[in-house]
Amino acid sequence: MINDLWYKNAIIYCLSVGSFMDANGDGVGDFPGLMRRLDYLQGLGVTAIWLMPFQPSPMRDDGYDITDYYGVDPRYGTLGDFVEFAHGCKQRGIRVLIDLVVNHTSDQHPWFQEARRDAQSPYRDWYVWAEQKPPKADLGVVFPGVQSSTWDHDDVAKAWYFHRFYDFQPDLNTANPHVQAEILKIMGFWLQLGVSGFRMDAVPFVIAKKGADQTDPVEQYDMLRLFREFLQWREGDAIILAEANVLPATDLDYFGNDGDRLHMMFNFQVNQTLFYALAAADVRPLVKALEATSGKPATAQWGNFLRNHDELDLGRLSKKQRKAVFDAFGPEPGMQLYGRGIRRRLAPMLQGCRARLELAYSLLMTLPGTPVIRYGDEIGMGDDLSLPERNAARTPMQWSSEPHGGFTKSDKPFLPVIDQAPFGFQHVNAAQQRRDPNSILNWTERVMRMRKEVPEIGWGRFEVLPSGTPQVLVRRYEWRNNTVMFVHNLAASPREIRLKVKRAAPGEQDLVNLLSDDHSYPDKTGEHHIRLETYGYRWYRVGGLDYLLKRTDV
Ligand code: NOJ
Repeated sequence: MINDLWYKNAIIYCLSVGSFMDANGDGVGDFPGLMRRLDYLQGLGVTAIWLMPFQPSPMRDDGYDITDYYGVDPRYGTLGDFVEFAHGCKQRGIRVLIDLVVNHTSDQHPWFQEARRDAQSPYRDWYVWAEQKPPKADLGVVFPGVQSSTWDHDDVAKAWYFHRFYDFQPDLNTANPHVQAEILKIMGFWLQLGVSGFRMDAVPFVIAKKGADQTDPVEQYDMLRLFREFLQWREGDAIILAEANVLPATDLDYFGNDGDRLHMMFNFQVNQTLFYALAAADVRPLVKALEATSGKPATAQWGNFLRNHDELDLGRLSKKQRKAVFDAFGPEPGMQLYGRGIRRRLAPMLQGCRARLELAYSLLMTLPGTPVIRYGDEIGMGDDLSLPERNAARTPMQWSSEPHGGFTKSDKPFLPVIDQAPFGFQHVNAAQQRRDPNSILNWTERVMRMRKEVPEIGWGRFEVLPSGTPQVLVRRYEWRNNTVMFVHNLAASPREIRLKVKRAAPGEQDLVNLLSDDHSYPDKTGEHHIRLETYGYRWYRVGGLDYLLKRTDV
């Protein structure tokens, strides 16, 4: 049965419909455009697509401000187009996850409009109100510098309303059973249309007790079980992938001790320490984070990522660690955001250095969990720091060297396509990279294929092996008597490490390189001498050279 848990070894690709491919030439990406690119995604090896919000929205937070949970924003197409897309994915064996943004609605949502107009409306209690400005209203803002408070006065309602995020995103009163029932109805609706689950937005805030009297966060974890049970009753293999940037101490509260709450969570702890490791060539905090997040139920899984559509949040690093990452990857104030993060894409952060990009991707692919990659990163797309806030890393996909990168035939894409060297579409685009066997695109495809052939990463137990230096990370995974080992050199110069393959039978101590012919054979004492170039990485299977052939069942 355990092999059925598809999300334990998926490759999730995150995209927003609006920035992917425009078919009707109005400057905004749409479902018909995305349909035309499904073969590209299948060829890349993607097994699941995570769609960012595409429901009707005033788009003041890139769609995370919804006015109708049961529709498609007309800019992106129709509900019919969504169903065609879902079918196209099904035909290709690609699963679809969609964002579930139920911590808040847009202030334009009819529920909020009714709630504010009429204190007697049943919708009044769908939001969180106070007669007076609560004393701690200015604490706990999510977007410091852009958002000044979590409570604002609504002149129509003549009351204060709570908004964890921007003031146009009033929080839903998620403790209200009617709101909970509606959340289930929304899930049921999209499940019926063929999705395999949800990337649930802002989960700690969804389950937090909300109200003027609430000073310290109190989570209502039972709500997670409610969502989980409903999901499983409706669709046995559907999942929730939670956005929950929480400390490892509470991981089990989110997964549930018996795995009865969330299926997946993004591993923010590992994400931040991974960037520190890349910046400082010091893997020790990463190792700590890997170990601190290793105790999860068997059916649960981490979603690992490098960059996403938000800022690279470094809020959980120490001051010194954070400074190291800022210095290395976002030294200018314009590259930083909210005092805690970096708003750049991966490739420019790594100065387009191919070896370092491969290293970062190789680390991502081999982290315990399921990799989540962001559109455009497979071709090494850049960012546009002249755009406000997080939009810098949300520019349209660069398909070809045609005008506007082949994204649109319109003269006015909704956000400009990057056209300045070195990351402009003239130099960085999918069409050119498909033709070049050595491109980062083709490299990514090969690595993703191999990732799928190494299920030990998703299922197995891992162990960090001593490498003799904090600059080199060595990990071994074991699952069903199969062993794989990954070696990563984060230093900007070559390193050699020596190790013995314990527990392997004599004659089976070779390390079979999974990505090239550069296998490693032990010396007479049984020791391997592995020479790694600058930012070098190795994927090994432990066993004799014919091991791959012998390996029939996993
Ligand atoms: C988290 C999303 O990732 C972010 O983009 C959004 O602004 C907030 N939640 C509010 O929905």
